[in-house]
Amino acid sequence: MFSTSQKIGVLGGGQLGKMLCLAAADWDFQLYILDKSPEYPAGKVCAGFTSGDFKNYDDVLAFGMDKDILTIEIEHVNTDALRELERLGKTVHPSPAALDIIKDKGAQKEFYRDHNIPATRFELFSSERDLKEAVRAGRWRLPFVQKTRTAGYDGRGVAVLREPADMDSKLLSGACLAEEMASIRTELAVIAARNAAGEVAVFPPVEMDVHPEANLVELLLCPARVSPLVMAEAEALAERVIRAFDICGLLAVEMFLTHDGQLLVNEVAPRPHNSGHHTIDSAPTSQFQQHLRAICNLPLGPTEQLAPAAMVNLLGEPGHNGPVYYEGVEKCLAMEGVYVHLYGKTTTSPFRKMGHVTVTGATPEAVIQKAETVKNTLKVLSLDSR
Ligand SMILES: Nc1ncnc2c1ncn2[C@@H]1O[C@H](COP(=O)(O)OP(=O)(O)O)[C@@H](O)[C@H]1O
Ligand SMILES: [Mg+2]
Repeated sequence: MFSTSQKIGVLGGGQLGKMLCLAAADWDFQLYILDKSPEYPAGKVCAGFTSGDFKNYDDVLAFGMDKDILTIEIEHVNTDALRELERLGKTVHPSPAALDIIKDKGAQKEFYRDHNIPATRFELFSSERDLKEAVRAGRWRLPFVQKTRTAGYDGRGVAVLREPADMDSKLLSGACLAEEMASIRTELAVIAARNAAGEVAVFPPVEMDVHPEANLVELLLCPARVSPLVMAEAEALAERVIRAFDICGLLAVEMFLTHDGQLLVNEVAPRPHNSGHHTIDSAPTSQFQQHLRAICNLPLGPTEQLAPAAMVNLLGEPGHNGPVYYEGVEKCLAMEGVYVHLYGKTTTSPFRKMGHVTVTGATPEAVIQKAETVKNTLKVLSLDSR
């Protein structure tokens, strides 16, 4: 329903919440944010800010009471409170049931297995000790990937174990899963959207270059440099996955294209995603507007890519901690087809996501080159660390 008087509550006030608020402003939609501090990125641009913890039952319930629609910008929220709000007649997208599966990487993998969605082989462990035992017994062989079941993000809950010494130095503690190491040719991400009427729209697949140590996306390219057949298969797979989860809103589906041409689902995020930021500057509908369309059951917008685009995350420079300072912005603004987005985080730290830059151009090669220039020019520093 299109209504400028309905109140939309968002759990989480980081950069995704901020960009959701900016998209909402185009239609005079009122977005209200729940997060710890109004100093966070969305605090400056939302219709209203509630200070609280989105993981806390009482905070989420109280926040939702005067809202019509509730959504999220992070999946690690209190789903019991969202369930109660749903029971009280609120519209909650994505559903608490889908969130419960997605926020637990173990439950996610079981979901793929149960729904015949292609993914790597895995096994769940209640602790890293049990995993060590499985390795000792020969049930798991190096190399493989260990992931913590909950609370991991931006590579923080992932360990790639290659050699015996890694079993002592790299293993993460707690409930976890072991995953077969995929032979990755290209990492892809496909953002799908679905509304309550059942309509699905899919953005073209993007290619992600992941930083080998930080496990963070360094550069993203759209459209991905894969065959038209793989593009179509990846889009169809994303549609299958969003329908399987029965989600209203966005679902970003991270996939591996393997060396033998298979597509495997790695993980999903039921919200706007880093891999869709380029849509703001290079698609007829941004992922943020698409999310609003989807959760409000409005017609979904067109998703074609208007020009090749690259996106670079602006990460805090290693060695810099404290109040932020951006170097080289003017040089980037003087370049054609360069779009700078700063999230407004007041302090920087090494590898913190502080903003992103979208680059458009005539060819994939041209945008990659321009993105490299941007990466070498625009630096996120701190005056305190000079
Ligand atoms: N099974 C796997 N085989 C090979 N590489 C993997 C595997 N799982 C994860 N990775 C690598 O680690 C990165 C981060 O893992 P992911 O599960 O997406 O965690 P995060 O939640 O931190 O994004 C992936 O983008 C990929 O580069
Ligand atoms: Mg990931």
